[in-house]
Amino acid sequence: MTENRYEPPEMRGKRRVICHISEIPETGKGLSIKKIIKGDPDRSLDLFLVTDGDEVQGYFNICPHQGTPLDLKPDVFLDVEKKYIQCSTHGAKFQKDDGLCISGPCVGSKLMKIPIHLDSDGSILLGE
Ligand code: FES
Repeated sequence: MTENRYEPPEMRGKRRVICHISEIPETGKGLSIKKIIKGDPDRSLDLFLVTDGDEVQGYFNICPHQGTPLDLKPDVFLDVEKKYIQCSTHGAKFQKDDGLCISGPCVGSKLMKIPIHLDSDGSILLGE
């Protein structure tokens, strides 16, 4: 039987360190974050990160079309040109910077953005 020990996340002020920019592959990185909801310790949130020039963007891993995760293949969030975020279920394409859907079955809807901060040492922080 494995011991299920909780390790508190590394924090910088009120922001939580979630990974380093070097851990984001070319096609994006999916994350499941636990224990960020007060009073609901077993809850986890599925997020993903993509690089966008010198910036990093983060969204909930939920397609606005039918609510499925965007990556059927783990950590593949971008189209073949690596220009747009693409849902693997029906091919909707979303702009990296604001999550707006520009083609596919849910044009005009948006991915849910999460507040991400890229620190000077390359650490990626979650929080306002
Ligand atoms: S579920 Fe994403 S485009 Fe249909």
